[in-house]
Amino acid sequence: MSSVLLPDGVLRTTINFQYRRWQREVLPLMTHWVAMNVHRGGGKTVFCTMRLIQAALTTKTKNGIPAKFSYVGMSISHARQTIWNELKHYLAPLGDKVQFNSNDNTVTFENGNIILLSGYEDPERNRGLHLHGLVLDEAQGCPQKVWDEILMATLAQNEAWLIVIGTPRGTGNLFHKFCLQGDDPNDDTITTITRTVADTGEMSPTMWKRILANGDRDAIRQEYFCDFMARVKNRVYSNFDTRTSFPAGDDTKPHIDPSIRFDKDRPVWVGMDFNVGTLPAVCAQMQDDGTIHIFNELTLHDTTTDRMAALLRAEFPNQNVIICPDASGTQRKTSALAGSDITILKRMGFEVRIPTMNPRTKHRVLACQVALESADGTRSVFIHPRCKRLIECLTLQQYNANGDPDKTKGFDHHADAFGYLICALRPIKYNRTRSREFIL
Ligand SMILES: Nc1ncnc2c1ncn2[C@@H]1O[C@H](COP(=O)(O)OP(=O)(O)OP(=O)(O)O)[C@@H](O)[C@H]1O
Ligand SMILES: [Mg+2]
Repeated sequence: MSSVLLPDGVLRTTINFQYRRWQREVLPLMTHWVAMNVHRGGGKTVFCTMRLIQAALTTKTKNGIPAKFSYVGMSISHARQTIWNELKHYLAPLGDKVQFNSNDNTVTFENGNIILLSGYEDPERNRGLHLHGLVLDEAQGCPQKVWDEILMATLAQNEAWLIVIGTPRGTGNLFHKFCLQGDDPNDDTITTITRTVADTGEMSPTMWKRILANGDRDAIRQEYFCDFMARVKNRVYSNFDTRTSFPAGDDTKPHIDPSIRFDKDRPVWVGMDFNVGTLPAVCAQMQDDGTIHIFNELTLHDTTTDRMAALLRAEFPNQNVIICPDASGTQRKTSALAGSDITILKRMGFEVRIPTMNPRTKHRVLACQVALESADGTRSVFIHPRCKRLIECLTLQQYNANGDPDKTKGFDHHADAFGYLICALRPIKYNRTRSREFIL
């Protein structure tokens, strides 16, 4: 047995373990709360098992009461099957300084600290616990309610650390939400670490060949390239790609681009949808190469157009602002205070670009799809990650049973505002006289 000092230098115990390359590389990236989107079999559970062991060996609480750490898998039997033997194996050199209790699935260390195993399918075991650290595994299957009502509360008392690990399973689930949050550079509560099979290199060429030969393309994209979108069907904006990293050799430019900057010398283009409940303004600037950079979004709820106009003026006091609104704004809708929406915007000194009538929904969607990625692979729109709501809407709006974009789940407003903007900046020209063809 070799004696290994783990790379972060804290664990000074004889443990027969060495981090894999990618595991060692992410050690310095670990913040207090982390979401780890790592491909199948990459080694994320073992990595977190080591974090639990390290924490249990080294944590000293302020009040001297031993610390508790929890590993929450799918079910208690999944938790047992996943890390019980690993814990036994790695802790064997410590002999009877560590007690394994298989009746209540706990591991108790000499210093009194405890690792508890449980599953989110039977989450009650965690209710009322005040933890110092939590690993939530296979988080893509964890019900939101279990997090909201039980797990989150266990972290509050001791400001516990959290690692959420999983592999993508579509969108809108707890794991996806954590990963989106962690990808947002303006959100410092959680960090997302994504490692695809191309990043870790943890796949033998023979096995990879077998997987490629026998696996479903979308399943491989989901499980090994950590792509949340791969298996989501029926998306209205299916050309919008939320991936921020790509396999080696693929030079696709991500749609979500944190390097986008506001340029005070360029005009601001604003896509706007008029709704009393949610009034979004999607703010963009045209670049010299013809691409559109969406640098911000403003959203007001239960509001009027006057308030949005005032907000825009405050946001861009000296800019030339061109608003591309919903053409139905010529009628009264959110303009409860005075005049039509368009009149209000013009009175505030904004230029308003408005077609005589809104483009048909399918034409608007087509314009967006082409701007996002045309058939030859050209991408013309890039979005700063702070535009959370727009990203969410472009990601999650789906077609309903009638083949129309669904408007019942609240994913339509920002996408519509985006559509009005794109139709103004990069319209699909429809040739009415000759044939029913689009000129792109
Ligand atoms: N540093 C390491 N040293 C030795 N073996 C490792 C190491 N990291 C992971 N492994 C082994 O690699 C395999 C996969 O690890 P693990 O179960 O942690 O992956 P995972 O990413 O959680 O996979 P899944 O997505 O299937 O849950 C296991 O057999 C594990 O013991
Ligand atoms: Mg695992």
